[in-house]
Amino acid sequence: MATTIAATTYRNFIDGDWVASASGQTFDNRNPADTGDLIGLFQQSNGADAKAAIGAAARAYEHWRLVPAPLRAEILFKAAQIIAARKEDFARDMTREMGKVLSETRGDVQEAIDMTFYMAGEGRRLFGQTVPSELRNKFAMSVRQPVGVASIITPWNFPMAIPSWKIVPALVCGNTVVFKPSSQTPLSALNFVNVLIEAGVPKGVVNMVTGDAEVGTAMTTDPAVRIVSFTGSTTVGRIVNQAAAPTFKKVHLEMGGKNVVMIMDDANVELAVDGCLWGGFGTTGQRCTAASRIVVHEKVYKRFVDELVARAKSLVVGDGLNPETQVGPSNSEAQLRTVMKYVKIGQEEGATLATGGHRLETGAYAKGYFHEPTVFVDVDPAMRIAREEIFGPVVSVMPCASLDEAIAIGNGVEYGLSASVYTQDINRAFQAMRDLYTGIFYVNAPTIGAEVHLPFGGTKNTGNGHREAGVAALDVFSEWKSIYIDFSGKLQRAQIDVEQI
Ligand code: UN1
Repeated sequence: MATTIAATTYRNFIDGDWVASASGQTFDNRNPADTGDLIGLFQQSNGADAKAAIGAAARAYEHWRLVPAPLRAEILFKAAQIIAARKEDFARDMTREMGKVLSETRGDVQEAIDMTFYMAGEGRRLFGQTVPSELRNKFAMSVRQPVGVASIITPWNFPMAIPSWKIVPALVCGNTVVFKPSSQTPLSALNFVNVLIEAGVPKGVVNMVTGDAEVGTAMTTDPAVRIVSFTGSTTVGRIVNQAAAPTFKKVHLEMGGKNVVMIMDDANVELAVDGCLWGGFGTTGQRCTAASRIVVHEKVYKRFVDELVARAKSLVVGDGLNPETQVGPSNSEAQLRTVMKYVKIGQEEGATLATGGHRLETGAYAKGYFHEPTVFVDVDPAMRIAREEIFGPVVSVMPCASLDEAIAIGNGVEYGLSASVYTQDINRAFQAMRDLYTGIFYVNAPTIGAEVHLPFGGTKNTGNGHREAGVAALDVFSEWKSIYIDFSGKLQRAQIDVEQI
């Protein structure tokens, strides 16, 4: 007999309380591997909810900014320990709500643990500069000060890692937070917020509001918000930037990618195939760092393509909770439709479909958003499949005759997040490292796999000049204040008075 279990309704977290949206509306959160699996109902919030959260964050800021940074950090250390203790549960929740395989959702939670420990350490650093003054009996230094209320808007592909990249440095610097996670992954967001509450983050310091554009608009236009940190598509990033411009908010944007792997004729081809499979099909290709373009020297092109295609064919697609699965579903119907649209575009453009190209919809696949791992070969760099971000299990392979040509193809797109070269020649490796105009570069490894203690971000349409992670995140979430202390007891005029030696 079928039993019906009532789905849990989750609420927003505003000013220390779990509250329903003023809209009275909710939305469903469903498993992309099995859309019959309803994970829960979440608040379809409106501008009034966002306003309440911003108000709470603004009030809490007056207290939080004065809490000594090492004490703020102690709460974060505790948070990291709590996440570590619940890693397996959080990973399972995450696979269920967004589809990527369990080993990868464990990695996502681990990235949140790493970032939280790392940033908590900053509570005892947050280094500024002390410098000599040009005048006698005068002291000069710079300190980091918090920015204020931070709006944090995050995507679904790294549902705990990316919120941690933003919220944790925001908190250690003394900002307060209004957090809007993707409506595809609100449970992982809620798990993270629950950890922060349990670790002792005071009321109003972190607020979470689920919902869509109406919430985002309030979070990017309200005068009380001083900084917006956004990860998502370049299209939405542009809207965020424009919305925040009239009130001159600091805006940190982390957007699309079309990352290249360059494989030279002296490369270890086996290693390159391993790297391209992981970089191209890991997370079902749904990483902004995904290796979606592969440029291969003509001397090893055929061998590489044959091996890549054979291996791509044998990848096991399925529910990410199943230990045998190597490639999970697309995250949503819309994402799957985008993948299918680009497969059609690639075929119409005249690229050769070497494997894949179809939605999987029979048997165990019937209730999810599954698609075959897809490889296009003999792709022309001018084709749309070689220039536009697809965010799915589709890679485009292109031949080249030299490293210079590979670099030109690599740089020939609007994005600049990550790139990589496979070569045994140190001269080629260094040239490629220097000449690829990206924020991240790898040698003999794919384009994915950044670690939390180095800056993360990209050039051109990928970003707007900021970096997150590493100490670069502190530059996003703090502002410099330069301070001069004159202990001479008289008026001293910089640039005018002449000091005698
Ligand atoms: C993303 O694709 O949005 O470097 C983030 C990586 C991961 C983070 C990816 N550590 O691939």
